[in-house]
Formats: sequence, C-alpha cells, structure tokens
Amino acid sequence: MDTEERITSAQATEEEELREKTLRPQRLSDFLGQQKVKENLGIFIEAAKMRGEPLDHVLFYGPPGLGKTTLAGIIANELGVDIKVTSGPAIGRAGDLAAVLTNLNDNDVLFIDEIHRLNRAVEEVLYSAMEDYALDIIIGKGPSARSIRLDIAKFTLIGATTRAGSLSAPLRDRFGVLAKFEMYRPDELARIIRRSAGVMGLEADDDAILEMAKRSRGTPRIANRMLKRVRDFSMVKGDGRISRKITEESLAALGVDELGLERLDREILSTIIEKFGGGPVGIDTIAASIGEDRVTIEDAYEPYLIQQGLLYRTQKGRMATIRAYEHMGIPYPEENVRRIDHDEADEG
Ligand SMILES: Nc1ncnc2c1ncn2[C@@H]1O[C@H](COP(=O)(O)OP(=O)(O)O)[C@@H](O)[C@H]1O
Ligand SMILES: [Mg+2]
Repeated sequence: MDTEERITSAQATEEEELREKTLRPQRLSDFLGQQKVKENLGIFIEAAKMRGEPLDHVLFYGPPGLGKTTLAGIIANELGVDIKVTSGPAIGRAGDLAAVLTNLNDNDVLFIDEIHRLNRAVEEVLYSAMEDYALDIIIGKGPSARSIRLDIAKFTLIGATTRAGSLSAPLRDRFGVLAKFEMYRPDELARIIRRSAGVMGLEADDDAILEMAKRSRGTPRIANRMLKRVRDFSMVKGDGRISRKITEESLAALGVDELGLERLDREILSTIIEKFGGGPVGIDTIAASIGEDRVTIEDAYEPYLIQQGLLYRTQKGRMATIRAYEHMGIPYPEENVRRIDHDEADEG
C-alpha cells in the first residue's frame, strides 16, 4: 500500500466513502467551522421551513474534503426531506436527469457533485427544472416533433464543485445561494479531530490533536485520515493512547512534514525553485515536469501551497516565495528580491 501518496490526498478513496458515513456529522450543530456558510444556511433553512417551501438552489464550491457533501446531507436532514445523491459524470444523458427529477417529492434535495462536469444537453434540462420546476420534453421527430412541458416536484438543487470558474454562467446564475468553502483553521480542525476521536472511542492528548490539526492542510478529510493512521501506529508501537510523540513519529514515517506537505507538494516547490529559478513557470510545465496532471495540481495541491504563502500566481506563471525556499532549506537568491519588486511594479 502506498501510504505516502494517500495520507494527504484530499480525494476520498472508495473505502473511505463508505466508512466516512460514521464520522460524518448529521446535524448542523455537529458541523464545525465554516461559520459564515453555516450561519447563512441556518437562516435560509429556517425560513424555508416556516414558509413550507423548498430551499433556494445552493452551490457549494471550494477544494475537496472541506465538507460539501457532508453539508448537503445535513441540509436535507435539517429540512426533514429526502436527498438524492448523484454527480455530473454519472448523468450521461438528458433522459437520466429527467428520470431522477421526476422521482423527487416536493421540497426534496437533489445533490449533484462535480456539477461542472455535466454535459451541455443535460445542463439545459436543468435550467427549466431549476427555474420553473418543469421539464420540456420533445416528442416525435422531424416536422411532427412537438414539445410538451411536464411539471416536476418543487425541489432544491445543491450543486458542489471544486471549480466554480468552470461552471457555465447560465447555470451559475440559477443558484440563489453561492457558498464558498474556506480551508479550516487549526483550532477548527482540532475540534473536528476531537469529535472524530470521540466517535472512534480513542484516547488522544490535546497536543497530539493540535499537531495533527496543524498538518492537515486545512482539510477535515485529511485530518480524519491522519487520525486513523496515527491510531494504527499508536496501537502497534505504543499502548493505544495517542500522544504527541507517537503522532510525530507516525507522521514522519508517513512522509508528512511540519506544514502537512507530502512528497508531491515538495516536488512542486523544488521543481519551481531548482529547475526554473523560482519561477515564474507555467502550470503545464510544472505538471509535465513532475508527471502529475494539471487539474490535480490546481485543485488538490495549489490551494494549500498558496494559502500557506509558499507559492503565488502571476500573469506569467507560478512563483515560489521566500518562505518556500526557507521551508525547502534552499538559500533565496539575492537577484530574486529585486525581480519581485520589479514584477509587482509592472502589475500595479
Ligand atoms: N465541518 C466539518 N465538521 C466535521 N467533519 C467534517 C466537516 N467537514 C468535513 N468533515 C468530514 O470530512 C470528510 C470529508 O467531507 P466531505 O463532505 O466528503 O467533503 P467534500 O464533499 O467537500 O469533498 C467527511 O468524512 C466529514 O466527516
Ligand atoms: Mg464530496
């Protein structure tokens, strides 16, 4: 098993999708952090319930592992309605979507993950469904073809995407609520890990939990995964109690550094620094150079590197910051200091 690759990936493995169910909070009060998103939604949910109407369509966007799927489930729970879960790539044809839509009841939630990956024909069906709760169906072919309008239940669409920018404007405009998921702070992640440890019946010291929180890349999915791996180490190498010492040892063994970076993050930084003089270098060049695809780098790796102030984007490409040099233990070249001043003057 390639544990080094897996530990800090924010993407869920299939096995995790199944097991996550137990760690997944069911109520809004158990969903920790994302204060802004949560407060607003809490109000919209209350209002929808008072009016007996469906909640406005909601779009969740942000990096993987931050709780988009979880919160969609919670919304349905809090509304007391059923949720149907599907994803952009899973809906191949307009007819597939029509079948899903006609099976919904009033006020139900339809969750479409990776909604930016819907194809054009399917997306168009969604427009009238979202706006008028209706499907326009073409019957027959050629000159005798006619369109009939079919009413469907008044439902709520919750769409989730890692790339809001890839959504077409007409689709984006049909969402009443746009909610951006931010990376979690260490104290928020610590609360999430504490809760998960409780669910899993583990004994864990506060400083151990904080250490995991700091290295989880702002991502609950990674935090939960880390907790499980550290638990394994503590059972085999210790007495089962999760201490700071065993946490540090486990994470070192798993190749996770003090900032939560793993091999591929460090490769991105060292490529920019060592092969391209600190940048600017285009994302495609970086991708080719480390043998990883561009989308994965952009969605899964870059957000955290940027958030940590290790990397930044310019018109001409990605650049490594002084902090990245420091973190990688490489001296920062004098001439770069002048170049940054120069570039910034250019842009302003
Ligand atoms: N705010 C949160 N509070 C507690 N646990 C969370 C929170 N956000 C995410 N999680 C946990 O992280 C895991 C991944 O969340 P998920 O909703 O699948 O992320 P996304 O859909 O954004 O990729 C879930 O197992 C869930 O238990
Ligand atoms: Mg998800």
